[in-house]
Amino acid sequence: MLERPERSLVARAEARSLALRLTSPPPASPPRQALVQPVRKESFLNTVIRSGSENTAHWIWFRDSLNRREKSVLYGYDSLAIIAAPQKVRRGSAVSVGRSRESPMQIENVEHKWTAQDIPSQQGRVAVVTGATSGIGFHTAKELARKGATVIIPARDMSKAKEASKRIEADVPQARLHLANLDLGEFDSVREFGEHLRDRYGTESIDLLVNNAGIMALPKRTLNSQGLELQFATNYFGPFLLTALLFPLIRKKEGSRIVTVSSGEARSARLEFDNLQSERRYVPHGGAYYQSKLADLIFAFELHRRLSAANSRIASIAAHPGWAVTDIGRSVSPGFGFLIKLSQLRAMWQSAEAGALPLLFAATSPDARNGGYYGPDGPKERKGNPTAAFEPVVTKNATVGRRLWDESERVTKMQFVV
Ligand SMILES: NC(=O)c1ccc[n+]([C@@H]2O[C@H](COP(=O)([O-])OP(=O)(O)OC[C@H]3O[C@@H](n4cnc5c(N)ncnc54)[C@H](OP(=O)(O)O)[C@@H]3O)[C@@H](O)[C@H]2O)c1
Repeated sequence: MLERPERSLVARAEARSLALRLTSPPPASPPRQALVQPVRKESFLNTVIRSGSENTAHWIWFRDSLNRREKSVLYGYDSLAIIAAPQKVRRGSAVSVGRSRESPMQIENVEHKWTAQDIPSQQGRVAVVTGATSGIGFHTAKELARKGATVIIPARDMSKAKEASKRIEADVPQARLHLANLDLGEFDSVREFGEHLRDRYGTESIDLLVNNAGIMALPKRTLNSQGLELQFATNYFGPFLLTALLFPLIRKKEGSRIVTVSSGEARSARLEFDNLQSERRYVPHGGAYYQSKLADLIFAFELHRRLSAANSRIASIAAHPGWAVTDIGRSVSPGFGFLIKLSQLRAMWQSAEAGALPLLFAATSPDARNGGYYGPDGPKERKGNPTAAFEPVVTKNATVGRRLWDESERVTKMQFVV
C-alpha cells in the first residue's frame, strides 16, 4: 500500500506543493532546460512536477546543503512526479527543471494543497481512531468512513460514542462504524479493549491505528488508579500499550500504518526521565502536557526505527494538527482557558476539520513517508494544509527512544516486540 513499484524511482513527498505545470506547445528548437525557479526549501520539498505522460523523464538540478550542484531524475507518474531526496536541498537553492524529450515546455506555478478529497479509497481497510468522539479524531473517523473504511471508535463514554456515530452517519449514511469501550488512562481498560478487538478481528487485520485521543493541562497533578500522572498515562503510556496489544493484528497486512498524534508545540518540550510523572514538579501545560506529546513523537520515531530494523512493511508516521478549535481545553484552568479563547480571536487557529488533515494525510496518502511527521503548512505550523513538520532533534536520538521504550515496557508491564 505504501510503495507502488512503479513509484519506487520517484521519491514520495509531502503534500503542500509548489507545483510546476509542464505543457508542451509546438517546439521551435529543443531546449533541454526550461526554468530556473527560486524556491524555499519547504516548497521545494513539496514540489510536484506535472507532466503530460507517464513515460517522460525529467531532470532537476539543485544545490545541496554543501552548495554542490546535484541532479535527480524524475519519472512521470499519473502526470505527477515528486522530487527525490528533498532533504538534501539547500535552503533558498534554485532548481532547474529539464526534460528528456526534445519538445520545450511552458511552466507555471500551481498550488496543490492536499485536502480530504485526496484521500484514496479506504474500502476494505479497518481503522481504529482513538478520541473520535470529538475534535480532530471525529473528523478523521468521518473522512475515513466516507472513503469506505470500517472505523472502530473506542470511547470512555459510550453515550458520546453513540452521539458521534450518529453525527457521522448523518453525513455519511453508508458509514461502517463499531463502538467500543476504552479508557486510555487506565491500563485494565486498554487491555480489555485489546482483547475485545482480538476476539472480534482475530482472523482479520487492523490496517490503521490512529493514536489521537488526548487530554491537556489539568490544573492540578491528577493520578489514575495506578498512581500514574493522568496526562502522561492517557496521552502516552495508554497509546503505547494499545499499540503493543494491537500490533499482532496490525502486522497481519503489509502497508498497515500506525499514526501517532503529537503537538507542534512539543518542539519546545523536554523529556525529563526523572520527572515523567511530574512527581518533582508539575507544570500543567508547558511541562506535563508538552512532555507527553513529545513522548508521543519520540515513540513514533523509535517505532519506525524498530520496524525498519525488522524489515517490516508496517509504517509508523507522526502528525500534529496545528492549533485547532476543539474541546482540548475543556479541563484547563479558567485563566488558561480565557487565554486560549482570547488567542482564538486572532485568526491563528483553524477548524477541527482542517486540523484532522495532517492525520488523514499520514493515515492514507501514498505520499506520506514511512517515518515522517506531518503538520499544517502555515506560519509556525499552526494552520494550513499538510506538509512535512519540523522534527525536533531528540526524535533522531536512538538512545532516548530506546530509553523511553524500556520505561514504557516497564510501566505498562507489556513487552512490545515488533
Ligand atoms: N486542538 C489542538 O489545537 C491540538 C494541538 C496539538 C495537539 N492536539 C492533539 O490532538 C489530539 C486530539 O485532541 P482534540 O484537539 O481533538 O481534543 P478533543 O476535542 O478534546 O478530543 C480529545 C478526544 O480524546 C478522547 N479522550 C480523552 N481522554 C481519553 C481517555 N482517557 N480514553 C479515551 N479517550 C479519551 C476524548 O474523549 P471524551 O469525549 O470522552 O473526552 C476526545 O474524543 C490530542 O492528542 C491532542 O493532544 C490538539
